[in-house]
Amino acid sequence: MAEQTIPAKKRVAVLISGRGSNMTALIEAAKPDDYPAAIVVVISNRPDAAGLERARAEGIATALVDHRPFGDDREAFESALDAELRRHRIDLVCLAGFMRLFTPSFVERWRGRMLNIHPALLPQFKGLHTHRRALAAGVREHGATVHFVVPEMDAGPIIAQDAVPVLEGDTEDSLARRVLAVEHRLYPQALRLVAEGRISIAAEPAASR
Ligand code: GRF
Repeated sequence: MAEQTIPAKKRVAVLISGRGSNMTALIEAAKPDDYPAAIVVVISNRPDAAGLERARAEGIATALVDHRPFGDDREAFESALDAELRRHRIDLVCLAGFMRLFTPSFVERWRGRMLNIHPALLPQFKGLHTHRRALAAGVREHGATVHFVVPEMDAGPIIAQDAVPVLEGDTEDSLARRVLAVEHRLYPQALRLVAEGRISIAAEPAASR
């Protein structure tokens, strides 16, 4: 029988701004040899992001690209970020609680190669405070979505989605905890699908360009 060639793992950067629990889930998932992606760097735009410490403890390279010195110059911030991504020869970017919006040109450069996790069943509840808004809307189901990043916020093609029930007496915190448990399973599954090339963004039809 012919020897099988094992495809190289995709090199992944995880971008965070805070606690990094999804980052941790990705790091854990990527440990086995047969996972198709390796987390090679964690990048934060905030020096105080708790996830940075956790990544270091796991022996993963970290980088800080603080947005503040760049003021309103988003392109300059993105150039610094892009330099880090290139330095680490990154194939795929996972946004995990990364609280900065990108310019359309940065998003286009990473088209089909940048993922985000959002704590709601998109297209419901784009934006912030999703759990509070889900409770206020009285929905019976809530959940999490992993999607490709496109210039419009929380609007890219959906890679994976999972729902949780909204229970009688739920608070923002209890609902957030239930959704977060789903997020931690969902993001590694979605990254696997993309890293294995089983899901990708189809080329746009020429007419719509
Ligand atoms: C998660 O709820 C994620 O869906 C949202 O921001 C939160 C980040 O949490 N985009 P963590 O930093 O991964 O713990």
